[in-house]
Amino acid sequence: MPDMLSVCFFLTDADSGDFSCALHYNNSENILKGANTMENINQMILDAFQFRSACKKYDPSRTVSDEDFATIMEAARLSPSSFGFEPWKFLVLQDPEIKKKLWDLAWGAQNSFNGASHFVILLARKKVDLIYSADYINYIMQDVQKMMPEAMEPRKKRVENFQKEDFKLLEGERAIFDWACKQTYIALGNMLTVAGFLRVDSCPIEGFNRAGVEEVLAEAGVLDREHFGVSVMVSFGYRAEAPHRPKTRRAAEDVIQWI
Ligand SMILES: Cc1cc2nc3c(=O)[nH]c(=O)nc-3n(C[C@H](O)[C@H](O)[C@H](O)COP(=O)(O)O)c2cc1C
Repeated sequence: MPDMLSVCFFLTDADSGDFSCALHYNNSENILKGANTMENINQMILDAFQFRSACKKYDPSRTVSDEDFATIMEAARLSPSSFGFEPWKFLVLQDPEIKKKLWDLAWGAQNSFNGASHFVILLARKKVDLIYSADYINYIMQDVQKMMPEAMEPRKKRVENFQKEDFKLLEGERAIFDWACKQTYIALGNMLTVAGFLRVDSCPIEGFNRAGVEEVLAEAGVLDREHFGVSVMVSFGYRAEAPHRPKTRRAAEDVIQWI
């Protein structure tokens, strides 16, 4: 093992987008040293958030690298979900025919269709899969989470009570679908943040007619409407121009209350 092991950690020059390896882990002394400090990391995180803005005009000549896009998708896949049910699926939309059919329906995505490098549609699962007694829930507990059979029954009881009493998710189809949609937004947030770290531009998109979009996707054979609905969309690429106005947010003291 080399004495000094360099660890590349997202250390980025906010303006140039250049990455540098400035974090060194000194094996012999077992300390973090070098150009990096916790303060740098905090600033790096804030820089990524400052960099991210909803991209309204993409440069069609630039493509997000496979590596960066894979990292963004891993951030989605590794996102947390309630009870770990992963109530989502991510459609990476490349087909120009489908994009053409979505043009009028996904009015908030038109900027993205014009030049974004990658476009993702986040699907959320429906009641048939998410109700406590569903085959999908059994599959998640047994095959994904590898739960012991004796642990599954009490867990399902807990989920049943949560869905019936705590969150009242079983009143109609919509409540539990919306619950799944909320969780896709966690994945969405992580994708946006990771893209920001990588200095990849992005735009979250809710500007679409859900029923119409679902019809197009179902007709194209890429959406099983019995199990999934469209939650939200997001595009990635590189900005063609700087944001038209600086980021505006309410003051911290107006939105954070310590109790
Ligand atoms: C859930 C969600 C849906 C959005 N939908 C759209 C959209 O359909 N089209 C669009 O151009 N921007 C969309 N935006 C971008 C917002 O307008 C933008 O994030 C907001 O104005 C704050 O600006 P900033 O992201 O540049 O900081 C959406 C943002 C979020 C979080």
